[in-house]
Amino acid sequence: MTLDLDFVRRRFPAFADPETARWAHLENAGGSYAAGPVVDLLTSLFTTAKVQPGWDFGPSVRATEAMARARTAMAATLNAGADEIHFGPSTSQNTYVLAHAMRPMWVEGDEIVVTEQDHEANSGVWRRLAETGIVVREWTVDRVTGLLDPDDLDGLVNERTRLVAMTHASNVAASINPVRAVADRVHAVGGLVLVDGVSYAPHGGVDVEALDCDVYLYSTYKTFGPHLGMLYVRRALLPQLAHQGHYFNESRLETRVTPAGPDHALIGASAGIADYYDLLHAHHFGDDTDADAVARIRAVSGLFAEQEAALMAPLLALLEARDGVRVVGSTAADPAVRTPTVAFSSAKHSSAAIYDALIAAEVSCGHGHFYAPRLVTALGLDPDDGVVRLSMVHYNTEEEVARALTVLDPLL
Ligand SMILES: Cc1ncc(COP(=O)(O)O)c(C=O)c1O
Repeated sequence: MTLDLDFVRRRFPAFADPETARWAHLENAGGSYAAGPVVDLLTSLFTTAKVQPGWDFGPSVRATEAMARARTAMAATLNAGADEIHFGPSTSQNTYVLAHAMRPMWVEGDEIVVTEQDHEANSGVWRRLAETGIVVREWTVDRVTGLLDPDDLDGLVNERTRLVAMTHASNVAASINPVRAVADRVHAVGGLVLVDGVSYAPHGGVDVEALDCDVYLYSTYKTFGPHLGMLYVRRALLPQLAHQGHYFNESRLETRVTPAGPDHALIGASAGIADYYDLLHAHHFGDDTDADAVARIRAVSGLFAEQEAALMAPLLALLEARDGVRVVGSTAADPAVRTPTVAFSSAKHSSAAIYDALIAAEVSCGHGHFYAPRLVTALGLDPDDGVVRLSMVHYNTEEEVARALTVLDPLL
């Protein structure tokens, strides 16, 4: 069974637009195109239900129902309960709110661990707690590969550790970190584990129960959906957080980490992500109603993995073969090891120059530090020029990658 790429690409309205489809979109770690079911739901909700939910008039009832459906469907994709899911405008905003919600749980001298590999969204808000008496320890990366060594946690985690904030997969180094092993270790001393899954979620099924993390975050605009931040908070943890909503909502757990009114239509439309996975599952495996959402996504992710391996293999091979080219993270084209987000620098050319050449060939990409300047600086690179990043998802074609290679081959 292989991914039916033609079926996949027909599910994305972007590819039916000739101007958009001209670009080989290899900047998916920044933002993916939206799947058809998401676009359809958003159009429908903006047309028929763009009002305040919670009342008894028709459009309001539809808005309420759409949000409830999205909460249930999206929770199921993570193997979580609907009451454990919260929507914010972005992951950066969600970590910002969480830092305020969690700080009152701790006293001066308590410790948290952050990584040098994370996107700043899961770094700065925690590091800033040092100003309030929290001891912040840094899990640093290898200066050559940019990878984290779990053994380094020996010197970082102790009985004062309250939180380890880590990334499931870095948006630059791409390697998949062993969340479950970290969680086991941190839980053994009574700490919590918070995971940034933004760069992992577009590629693999996420099962928060199997990971045994306490908090998991990702951004739905990178998982073929609308621009929102999805936040899972373990049921038992939620009541311990300081309420961040209005005072008169204090008793409501659902407003605990969402101080602002969320975008109702975007939340409703996020159910289209689950619908998209279901469409893929039905097309490839038949309507297997016995499989739960996590199992369906796991099956579909298996198809993604094979396609993504085929996409990253020639790119990694070319980069690895060239003198003076440095790939961040592992060069193994193995979806169990890394996501297909490939960041590199060259001793011959600036990243800006390589980027310019790729853009001239209509390859969507970027260069710089991608909001992970601590990682890029640790690698000894100038964070402004930074790395060139080509990031694929399952809907990309081998021809799109080949277009990038026709630029990189002579240049490097
Ligand atoms: C790994 C990672 N974490 C966090 C974020 C921040 O997400 P948001 O843009 O939703 O704040 C990003 C965004 O690019 C990211 O790549």
